[in-house]
Amino acid sequence: MENASSATARYSRGAVILHWLIAVLIVLNTVAAWVSEDMPKEDRSFIIGNHKAIGITIILLTLVRIAWRLTHQAPPLVDTLKAWEAALAKVTHVGFYFLMLALPLSGWAMSSSFSQGKPISMFGLFNMPALPVAYDKATNGMFHEMHEIGANLMVLLFVLHVVAALKHHWIDKDTTMRRMVPWLK
Ligand code: HEM
Ligand code: HEM
Repeated sequence: MENASSATARYSRGAVILHWLIAVLIVLNTVAAWVSEDMPKEDRSFIIGNHKAIGITIILLTLVRIAWRLTHQAPPLVDTLKAWEAALAKVTHVGFYFLMLALPLSGWAMSSSFSQGKPISMFGLFNMPALPVAYDKATNGMFHEMHEIGANLMVLLFVLHVVAALKHHWIDKDTTMRRMVPWLK
């Protein structure tokens, strides 16, 4: 019975929607920041303006996601996982939740100190206030550094997570991928 339930168990619909929505926004924000680096100043500030609003949206969605996670049971990991695989999956997931908040918060703090407390426009709909940080160069530099390191860590976890998901799907041929990809049989 144990086996049957863990082989068919899936994340709830809400967890799946939030997983994929946030994943798409994180990838979009990362690519946008990278691509914007070679753009003329005006185009770059348009992209970074949206980057900021998308990043703050990710914080809000992540708070909803954590609340959802705490109130809806996640399916147990596939029971053929080796102990180290299960441990690595848990570390990766906790690392993701941490970065989904810490990375955009570091960006928000960097932007707040750089703009000396100017609010951030959310796609022109409403404003989010600046975070209460110091407005000097050293503070800005520190949050910039944190944002870069956080973004690199996020890319690292992303590669690990995707390689693991594909390995379970194509090599181990277990049901790991189905837990988060509802359209897979
Ligand atoms: C999960 C969300 C986010 C991701 C994945 C992300 C990712 C990135 C990446 C990859 C870069 C390029 C880093 C570099 O090599 O210099 C960047 C730059 C930047 N990010 Fe974010 N970011 C996020 C959220 C935010 C937020 C919420 C803000 C501000 C409210 C922000 C403000 C900035 C700014 C201003 C830059 C340009 C820094 C510069 O002048 O070089 N980011 N971000
Ligand atoms: C930046 C993008 C992504 C982030 C931040 C992310 C984050 C997460 C987190 C935190 C979990 C654990 C959910 C929980 O138990 O609360 C998870 C599960 C999962 N993710 Fe992702 N994910 C991303 C992209 C992807 C992609 C591209 C794939 C597929 C190739 C994928 C496949 C899965 C699968 C199959 C699971 C469930 C299996 C497991 O528990 O390990 N994810 N993801």
